[in-house]
Amino acid sequence: MARVAVTGGSGKLGRAAVRDLVEHGWDVVNLDRAPSPDNLAPFLSIDLTDYGQVVGALTGVDDRYDRIDAVVHLAAIPAPGLQANSAIFRNNILSTYNVFAAAKVAGIDNIVWASSETVLGLPFETPPPYLPVDEEYAPRPESTYSLVKTLEETMVGELCRWNPRLKATGLRFSNVMYVEDYAAFPAFESDPTLRDWNLWSYIDARDGALAIRLGLEREGTGKEVFVIASPDTVMSTPTPELVKAHYPDLELKRPVEGHETLLSIDKARRLLGYDPRHTWRDHV
Ligand SMILES: NC(=O)c1ccc[n+]([C@@H]2O[C@H](COP(=O)([O-])OP(=O)(O)OC[C@H]3O[C@@H](n4cnc5c(N)ncnc54)[C@H](O)[C@@H]3O)[C@@H](O)[C@H]2O)c1
Repeated sequence: MARVAVTGGSGKLGRAAVRDLVEHGWDVVNLDRAPSPDNLAPFLSIDLTDYGQVVGALTGVDDRYDRIDAVVHLAAIPAPGLQANSAIFRNNILSTYNVFAAAKVAGIDNIVWASSETVLGLPFETPPPYLPVDEEYAPRPESTYSLVKTLEETMVGELCRWNPRLKATGLRFSNVMYVEDYAAFPAFESDPTLRDWNLWSYIDARDGALAIRLGLEREGTGKEVFVIASPDTVMSTPTPELVKAHYPDLELKRPVEGHETLLSIDKARRLLGYDPRHTWRDHV
């Protein structure tokens, strides 16, 4: 059984990822500062900003495990504004550097890491270049949190150049949701500006976990980044109407229909076989 270390496995997305990976036959180790309430995988308490601890965790821990085959790196302060900018910068960039550098020492060539929809230019005070937004234009970070996600994407590209065996899959997740979050969705309809900051998108945590597993299974080497969102918006208003009302002057790269997301998941569908199954509409 292949063993995967999930950093941030106690967090919102991490708990869904650990569950999905365990259910699909991966041997999972959860590396986090805090334990998970789920207890689905062995937990190792760690501070990822301490390089020595990360090398230790990825190369083997006494009688717990002797090797790790792949890493899912999700641990981070997960949004702008939760801590001082410099604290977000320090925690997030150092954790990501340490995970990739320690993985090299441990001989691990398969890493999936969490980037973010924010690199697409959220909250879109400057409108995006076109719709649906995708991976084809350069990142436009508008916060320190997003700046770090952008720097990480650049850094990983260079690390792949240094190590041609490395396969690094960056997932630009939309806003992560659990089923219990969906009760709040109908209220968005009365005020579309409540959610226009990310083009009314979201990602069901279970489909986020699916994308992570598909990223681990992806063929090939090198860096690839993917936008990962649920297939629909948070709105009842059809997407063409939202575009017409809020972005009448923006180029449409391709026609949109129904309630489809304006965060293009076409690349993930094409290259990962990502086929999200969950929508808030089944739960409200
Ligand atoms: N939640 C979202 O809407 C969202 C959207 C896009 C991207 N992301 C990204 O997805 C990832 C997971 O987000 P989440 O919502 O599950 O966050 P979360 O805060 O629920 O979980 C993050 C986990 O990382 C751990 N952690 C943070 N820094 C650590 C450190 N230095 N050492 C050890 N553990 C540390 C925390 O203890 C926590 O359990 C993050 O990288 C985040 O930036 C999240």
